[in-house]
Amino acid sequence: MSIKAIIGGQWGDEGKGKIVDLLSQEAQIVARYQGGANAGHTVYQNDKKIVLHQIPTGALRENCICILGNGMVIDPIGILEEINTLKKLKIKVKNRILIDYYSHIVTPIHKYIDKTNEKRTNNEIGTTCKGIGPTYSDKYNRKGIRAIDLLTNDILQEKIEKRLSAAITNNEIEKEDLETLKKDIEIFYKTTQEIKEYIRDTFLVLYNSQLPNILIEGAQGTMLDIDYGTYPYVTSSNCSSGGIGTGLGIPVSKINNIIGIFKAYTTRVGGGPFPTELFDNDGKNLGKIGNEFGATTGRPRRCGWFDLVVAKYSAKINGLTHIALTKLDIFNTFKTIKVCVAYKFNGKITANLSEVLNSLDNIEPIYQEFKGWNSDIENCEQFNDLPIEAQKYIQFLENEIEVPINIISIGPKRHQIIHNNK
Ligand code: GDP
Ligand code: IMO
Ligand code: MG
Repeated sequence: MSIKAIIGGQWGDEGKGKIVDLLSQEAQIVARYQGGANAGHTVYQNDKKIVLHQIPTGALRENCICILGNGMVIDPIGILEEINTLKKLKIKVKNRILIDYYSHIVTPIHKYIDKTNEKRTNNEIGTTCKGIGPTYSDKYNRKGIRAIDLLTNDILQEKIEKRLSAAITNNEIEKEDLETLKKDIEIFYKTTQEIKEYIRDTFLVLYNSQLPNILIEGAQGTMLDIDYGTYPYVTSSNCSSGGIGTGLGIPVSKINNIIGIFKAYTTRVGGGPFPTELFDNDGKNLGKIGNEFGATTGRPRRCGWFDLVVAKYSAKINGLTHIALTKLDIFNTFKTIKVCVAYKFNGKITANLSEVLNSLDNIEPIYQEFKGWNSDIENCEQFNDLPIEAQKYIQFLENEIEVPINIISIGPKRHQIIHNNK
């Protein structure tokens, strides 16, 4: 039996979907442990682009059972849309998509609260407005609604009514939104009837299974982790590997490989510090060539150079055993590529992120320059096929992070991948 976890190493959108799709070929269970519809994981099947938000990307491999773990926050309306998308693609969903009893439910009330918070703070965090923060707040405040509650209509109705009246009393939603919210709640009730059949005790499935291979699909990225990220500009869950134990019930000691996914550069959507962000032509080119627009919200992603200070921190926090480096092809036309190797803060140089995590707006990145390769790499099949400049770039990152980069992605399609098992 092998258990592998895929974790975003930066600020999300590293290409986790593509790598999960690759590794799920060998898995019997693919499971998520945190987050919800804030995620947008892109995969290609027969040249068709598919974006999944809550259902694990392994859904596209019919041999996989997909578990949505207790640590997730589930939006029934969104789930039904995804199930219908899969059905249209003739992908079997019955008995394959399993939502844990104890996952928490995002209702339209939570989505309106999220939108209202964003409006009132002038989009300071820049959330996806999918109700993530408000749902996790209710969970930790011990007032949440869980998937198991959807199985009994009276209990669900009572909980929804109570939450709605609290939202009104506490001025959590705008008065003018109330009528549309009530209509959305009606749609929500209807939807819950249709997703009941997917709600299960997934603990039993995991622990009774004789199935050998489990792939764990992280969402978001380490720098968006509620504890280890750039708080408060983070999401509301533990996206780092630490979340797996509580969000799925698989202890970290049972995991064989923890694979960090890193883009060959860095992107971030929403507010918050971003030390290597670029506002010049290089930044514009990364966004344009990399087609850097959010898979969930369509917002343009902020772009910058690879940040080794972040990567080293991420490797430690997650206990990374391997790295997959994605989107290397985006550099094909770049003459010079830079990597941030340290930060200057208050006249001192540091490569330790935890020292400056709360002062990232005031640091100055220190860069090392690399020569670009100025050629197309999309059709390379082996590490040695890559131009020497690209090989040097990868080897430098690998030596610095001290974790092997054993997967290199050179295009969005399934076959555009290099296995680097030296
Ligand atoms: P995720 O949230 O980590 O799954 O990543 P997203 O799906 O939000 O964003 C990654 C984007 O990059 C998607 O559009 C992918 O199709 C695309 N992508 C992934 N790997 C590569 C790659 O190696 N090269 C290129 N050009 N695109 C890639
Ligand atoms: P995947 O899984 C990139 C960001 C939002 C915002 C912050 C909080 O596709 O990598 P939230 O709605 O979670 O309360 O928003 O987190 N964010 C993501 N950024 N990729 C994601 O997921 C993200 N999920 C949330 O933009 O800054
Ligand atoms: Mg994404």
